[in-house]
Amino acid sequence: MSTVSLNEKIPNNVDLSADKRLQRALEQWQPGFLEWWREMGPDGFQASDVYLRTAISVDSSGWAHFDMVKMPEYRWGIFLADPEPNRTIGFGDHFGKPAWNEVPGEYRNPLRRLIVTQGDTEPASVEQQRALGKTCPSLYDLRNLFQVNVEEGRHLWAMVYLLHTYFGRDGREEAEALLQRRSGNPDKPRILQAFNEPIDDWLSFFMFTTFTDRDGKYQLLSLAESAFDALSRTCRFMLTEEAHHMFVGQMGIARIAQRTAELVRQGKDPKKEGAIPFDMLQRYLNFWYTVSLDLFGSEVSTNGANYFAGGLKGRPKEESYPDHVLLEGSANVELFEDGHIVERDVAPRMAVNLQTGRAYEEASQGALAKCNKVVADLGVEFRLPSERFHRGVGTFGGYFFAPDGRKVSETDFRHHEPEWLPSDEDEAYVRSLMTNPVRTPGKFANWIAPPARGINSQRLDFEYVRFNEA
Ligand SMILES: [Fe+2]
Ligand SMILES: [Fe+2]
Repeated sequence: MSTVSLNEKIPNNVDLSADKRLQRALEQWQPGFLEWWREMGPDGFQASDVYLRTAISVDSSGWAHFDMVKMPEYRWGIFLADPEPNRTIGFGDHFGKPAWNEVPGEYRNPLRRLIVTQGDTEPASVEQQRALGKTCPSLYDLRNLFQVNVEEGRHLWAMVYLLHTYFGRDGREEAEALLQRRSGNPDKPRILQAFNEPIDDWLSFFMFTTFTDRDGKYQLLSLAESAFDALSRTCRFMLTEEAHHMFVGQMGIARIAQRTAELVRQGKDPKKEGAIPFDMLQRYLNFWYTVSLDLFGSEVSTNGANYFAGGLKGRPKEESYPDHVLLEGSANVELFEDGHIVERDVAPRMAVNLQTGRAYEEASQGALAKCNKVVADLGVEFRLPSERFHRGVGTFGGYFFAPDGRKVSETDFRHHEPEWLPSDEDEAYVRSLMTNPVRTPGKFANWIAPPARGINSQRLDFEYVRFNEA
């Protein structure tokens, strides 16, 4: 077990004080991070006490420590999972050779790019969600939002640590730029488009944490396979935090469905009662699932193949696949060419993105299954739309398909769009439910059922956030 220095300016388990230059560089980055947090983190609430968990060690028993904390005083730190002794590279051209403790020169640029792209999503999501606190459905949910936010902040630290430690001056410049870009700002947008859309209602937040954060999880699982050992260990620890984000999302959607189901069972119209109808939930799901699928990139991808060949980024749970080299045989891929769906055989490495996407799809299906249990008695079933539907990236990107995968004309698509994707009217309705925050301990907004239990065995009416604002 690596020791954790909690009392240092930057809590860490990487023996930061042994490398004075690195320590100084990170201590110089720290005030900029805090400035960014105050400017772009949750709007308001910076003086509130929040029941947060903080990592105090990386072993499974001790990394979650709960306390009332003011967010700007959260102990953002650098935590890597413990090293695996004699770890070898699990895939690609260097399969079976020792994992790297340094970045090989030939892979410097692509690795830096991967780390910067991952790093950029972390502060971006905090920025996207910054207004949500003002419309929280309960103190329990508000606390969960803030937990997700501080941890995304820590994930930024995780990537910045790698940039500072292994990428010299370029890395320091990239670390600085991560604090400069702003979600949705046309002059200095975040790198990936999905991270430039504001998330200003709680339904979108729960969909984001279910589907977009799950994309994040699959990216981290892929990077956890990396031959670059520090990246692998960093991502492995991030994954322990990420699990909670998906829990927040899935339970959020399930609780909304549960509330609607209660009303339907009483013979009431959910919309008249200020709850969210099932078909509206399905439309939000259709939107967020498909924009999240876009984050996996094209089904057939040279970048994906190169990352795999180099050992930079593998497939989630690489050990579960029979072939780790992917030089033989071919992969069958469905493509959209000249207005027709065709099947093509491609070199298997070219289809690595697709395989990762499939694993993600399966996991998303699992998340829905839990939600469907809540509504099964009503004959309602939430479904993932076809991977062809509403795509901006990949072979189906920009073409028109129905949620069941049927090719449709643009006119047809536009005609049915209000049934398939959230309309302006849906969005206005959802927002109208969330104009006032619920800030009384133990109380929940009318559109969402209370959770089955509180956080860390606390009661539901525990005061998860204490407002100290004037
Ligand atoms: Fe994250
Ligand atoms: Fe996350």
